[in-house]
Amino acid sequence: MNASDITILKESALADIAAAADAAAVEAARVRYLGRNGRLPEIMKEIGKADPAERKDLGQQANAFKNEVQAAIEARKESLQSDAGRAALRDLDLTLPGRWRGLGSRHPITQIIERATEIFRAIGFTVADGPDVEDVFHNFDALNHPEGHPARNEKDTFYLSDGRLLRTHTSPVQVRYMEKHTPPVRIIAPGRCYRRDTTDATHSANFHQVEGLYVDRGVSLADLKGDLAHFARELMGREVKTRLRPHFFPFTEPSVEFDFSCHVCGGKGCRVCKHSGWIEIGGAGMVNPKVFTAVGYDPEQVTGYAFGVGVERMAMILYGIPDIRFLYDNDVRFLEQF
Ligand code: FA5
Repeated sequence: MNASDITILKESALADIAAAADAAAVEAARVRYLGRNGRLPEIMKEIGKADPAERKDLGQQANAFKNEVQAAIEARKESLQSDAGRAALRDLDLTLPGRWRGLGSRHPITQIIERATEIFRAIGFTVADGPDVEDVFHNFDALNHPEGHPARNEKDTFYLSDGRLLRTHTSPVQVRYMEKHTPPVRIIAPGRCYRRDTTDATHSANFHQVEGLYVDRGVSLADLKGDLAHFARELMGREVKTRLRPHFFPFTEPSVEFDFSCHVCGGKGCRVCKHSGWIEIGGAGMVNPKVFTAVGYDPEQVTGYAFGVGVERMAMILYGIPDIRFLYDNDVRFLEQF
């Protein structure tokens, strides 16, 4: 045993450690050189037998061997670990698009109802509610529908076996509210309506309306016109126009249908408005004195206006939806656009 034997052994140990491809190979090299039965204990034994004059020098050499091999093992372990980290990063494709988990949104019908509610709340209306399953009195009698009125017909209305019906409009909420409250009254009532209408692009057997009712001393058709114009502008934009056309409803006198100017063509005429420049939104009028009498109001003391707007119709023109059935199909590809 001499100094150059230790140097040769050290070089071979350092070469083995540098060539170790993974943590197991590094550990095998450690056991081979520094382990209890490895080369270092062998060297120490031989130094013990060496010439005492050389022993000190050899001992220092052996110590240096141990320290350098130990340091090389630690360095190799660290470098293998950071190589593994880099490899993991290499396998990660940072350019891949993220996975969209989807964010729910409110149904366009709900959005219109909420918007309409906000607009009328801001001018002093409160929200009222009534049952979907109605009695004939509130849906028809109190609203001055005479016996034999076509809307009462079983061909138009869904009757239950107990004689009640699915309300055909939100107007019965007017009656229910006035029965319980004295004037002045200022309410809106959004809700579902049911009719035996054949489904097509603009009709459904189940649809939604927002009812409005304003009763006080001196309420006039001018209030109705002004409030509907305000509603139209708030919902559709400043440039929208409204118009009232004479019509007939048993529970209002005079009665009107009202239109919004077509927001798709700005009133010039297009496919959506059937080239008329206008789109029918709902019915309205001055509350018929017979309705006031039915709920116990004195028609000599108060006047009022009422209206009922179709929610689906408003959604269709606001969002450019060509067919009412899209609103009920619950196709997420359609719904996520709103
Ligand atoms: C009425 O229902 C009256 N109650 C409105 C009213 C209230 C008038 C207060 C006067 C005072 P009408 O049947 O026209 O009126 O319906 C009003 C709106 O509901 C229509 O303009 C339309 O927008 C919508 N609508 C009616 N039937 C359907 C249907 N089958 N599918 C989708 N929307 C409908």
